[in-house]
Amino acid sequence: MSERVILAFSGGLDTSVAIPFLAEKMDAEVIAVAVDLGQGGEDMEAIQKRAIDCGAAEAVVVDAKEEFAADFCVPALQANALYMDRYPLLSSLSRPLIVKHLVSAAKQFGGTVVSHGCTGKGNDQVRFEAGLAALAPELKVVAPARDFAWTRDKAIEFAESKGLPIETTKKNPFSIDQNLWGRAVETGFLEDIWNGPTEDVYAYTADPATPREPDEVVITFDQGVPVELDGRTLTPYQLIAELNRRAGAQGVGRIDMVEDRLVGIKSREVYEAPAAIALIAAHMELENVTVERDLARFKRGADQRWSELVYDGLWYSPLKHALDALIADAQRYVSGDIRMTLHAGKATVTGRRSEQSLYDFSLATYDTGDMFDQSLAKGFVQLFSLPAKIAAARDTKNG
Ligand code: ARG
Repeated sequence: MSERVILAFSGGLDTSVAIPFLAEKMDAEVIAVAVDLGQGGEDMEAIQKRAIDCGAAEAVVVDAKEEFAADFCVPALQANALYMDRYPLLSSLSRPLIVKHLVSAAKQFGGTVVSHGCTGKGNDQVRFEAGLAALAPELKVVAPARDFAWTRDKAIEFAESKGLPIETTKKNPFSIDQNLWGRAVETGFLEDIWNGPTEDVYAYTADPATPREPDEVVITFDQGVPVELDGRTLTPYQLIAELNRRAGAQGVGRIDMVEDRLVGIKSREVYEAPAAIALIAAHMELENVTVERDLARFKRGADQRWSELVYDGLWYSPLKHALDALIADAQRYVSGDIRMTLHAGKATVTGRRSEQSLYDFSLATYDTGDMFDQSLAKGFVQLFSLPAKIAAARDTKNG
């Protein structure tokens, strides 16, 4: 029996061409697996049909929208995950979930090899293969674009020679990856980092400079999970999808940055992540109100490390697992409402309300009702500054 290759299939040119290419090169049967992560665009049935038309032995479509929202986007939100303080990790979060479904497909269909369309220059190859190494080390990996040095021109030539039912002429200069948590755009004229992004780069967000009425939204969290929008109970998927529309309509969540890839390259990336950026701002503020100071300070470091591990493809790793436990524990009291104004590209918090608030009006006020005993502050400040004072005196003595 010929080997069975489980291919992570997007429906695009490269993974479509990969089907007959792998079948021929490896004398294998190809099982195409397309995972729906809320990327929108083409419907999944059309993608499934294309896989079969390109010669796949089986084509599987997995609806992982709710799973992606609940098990990947929500933990990222709880970690306030922004790589290099800016990038909400949308591509980084999707690969470990795709890997999980590739591994189940390998079990179901007796696959021995897994294949993905990544090149050798990016982070996504690492995320696929580090995930596979953790979940199913027995599976072999082949990446045609990397391992057989494919170019887009070669892929198009191959598609035409085989008469594949795919559009090979449409010229999209960008490499795009998109899902529920946002959209990533790279290459083309964006590779000159002096070039500003043009409006046609964007699809999830409207131009923030267009004058329009602001939108106001109240987001309710229960232990760090967003559960209601304006008082309506929604699943994480529904809530994120709706907030993408509303924050996107106000131009919220555009990011243009140069980023440090794991493979050592600096690359220019344009992202749009309206719901992610609005939710992280809301969640951070609710943590400010409900999380005790030292835990909050420590968590900021943990959040950053978590983001770097996930960016680097180590979703399934011991340190990430341990940080998950810390971050989850810190969510115990992160419940309440955040009111935000969405307008002109910004999501601005304007109100917070929580039964678990540590904000105490009678301690904070400068007006009548002040319960803070200022006479205690004098001695506190003297003892607090004592070590630095003694050390400074020694510096003076030594000149
Ligand atoms: N630079 C981002 C990351 O490494 C996005 C990668 C997007 N992938 C793509 N094929 N456009 O997470």
